[in-house]
Amino acid sequence: MKNLRTALFLCIFAFSFPVFSQTKSLLGETPAQKSHRMQWWTDARFGMFIHWGLYSLPARHEWVRNYERITNDQYQKYFDNFNPNEFNPKEWAKKAKAAGMKYAVLTTKHHEGFCLFDSKYTDYKSTKTQAKRDLVKEFVEAFRAEGIKIGFYYSLIDWHHPDFTIDDTHPLRVDGNEASKEVAYARLNKGKDMARYRAYLKNQITELLTNYGKIDILWLDFSYPGKFGKGHQDWGSVDLVKTIRKLQPNIILDDRADLKDYSDGYDFVTPEQVKPAELLKYKGKYWETCQTFSGSWGYFRDENTWKSQHQLLDLLTTSVANGGNLILNVGPTARGEFDYRANKALDSLGYWMHANNQAIYDCTFPPDEYNLPAELNVRVTYNPSKKKLYLHLFDYPTDGKITLPNYNGKISYAQFLNDDSEILFKSDGNGLILNLPKSKPPYEIPVVELSLK
Ligand code: GLC
Repeated sequence: MKNLRTALFLCIFAFSFPVFSQTKSLLGETPAQKSHRMQWWTDARFGMFIHWGLYSLPARHEWVRNYERITNDQYQKYFDNFNPNEFNPKEWAKKAKAAGMKYAVLTTKHHEGFCLFDSKYTDYKSTKTQAKRDLVKEFVEAFRAEGIKIGFYYSLIDWHHPDFTIDDTHPLRVDGNEASKEVAYARLNKGKDMARYRAYLKNQITELLTNYGKIDILWLDFSYPGKFGKGHQDWGSVDLVKTIRKLQPNIILDDRADLKDYSDGYDFVTPEQVKPAELLKYKGKYWETCQTFSGSWGYFRDENTWKSQHQLLDLLTTSVANGGNLILNVGPTARGEFDYRANKALDSLGYWMHANNQAIYDCTFPPDEYNLPAELNVRVTYNPSKKKLYLHLFDYPTDGKITLPNYNGKISYAQFLNDDSEILFKSDGNGLILNLPKSKPPYEIPVVELSLK
């Protein structure tokens, strides 16, 4: 009786305080159903982000409008001069595939508001420029033809739309204290109506998820709730996500529509531009880190701090070794091509992936017993169905010896992944000792494949 009373009390308590209840749900999908829906994505592990828009003309960051506080009128010259006469998405798709990327996410509209698709709700779109083409349509056809899954990035933010209210993240933001800002924004936003913008947003998402066949990923970006910011109420996120799930029931959705209270308001979390070491904490979730080659997402002509092949592989292997995905960004030029630095980086990844992709696809973090001491500087990935462990050797041993504590008696065979050449091993009291050749195989990070008994 006492137990019953306690149970009843807990139940009422839980329903009255959301923090004590389960998070809310829009779909009622079970974890097993979700894992099934997500499987192609968790198997794929590696995707291409493509940030392309009018900002590729100024070529100094996709946030140029914001950084330089550019008005619609001043920005118009980029629309007028947009003429990507080298745009050939078949080339892009071939390059993504050669680099080993299994999905691609294109900016259909970024914060600047310019649409790369033929939306019937605006004239601020590629078909009205000299390009005269629905660039999204061509992207979809070309990437699908290469067997690459299709993702759309869509910016919730829109600095061009007349109803999108000016806030602290807008190019026309004001400075000052809270009270003075409040007055200024009230004046500047007179006549703007976010309800109309919400309808525009929903209409465009509906177009994107209706007119281009099966869409595998939707990447909404981003929320910044707060007094002079925007969040789920501004976007109408609950209604929007229901619409999205209805139009494309199998779609995979990122987490930036400010619906963290709902277990299925999003599918995966999106650590952006973080260092490899920070990725450890996401183990066990669905996650994807998004990363640039050089700091900017949009084409940035004069940015020269490009990541090395080693840094890129570190991001990729550390992601997989912690059960996550990497989406790596290319910012095509205003002519519609990948620039030489992006091509070089993609080629170098393709060279490594060709030899070592089995240590990436279908892989995740290994069971705890196979964790290795940090000083070995080895990332371990694991293919559970093949029962293989992959050791990514970040520091190749000069004497050819690596000792793996706790691995004694567990391994039946060892080889390099790049050429399937045998690696002999023996055991002693310290663990399993791999006998590697003194000269490092010609890969920045060689991979040893271990078959588990
Ligand atoms: C950020 C930026 C944006 C970029 C995105 C990708 O939120 O606003 O420019 O598109 O991250 O993750």
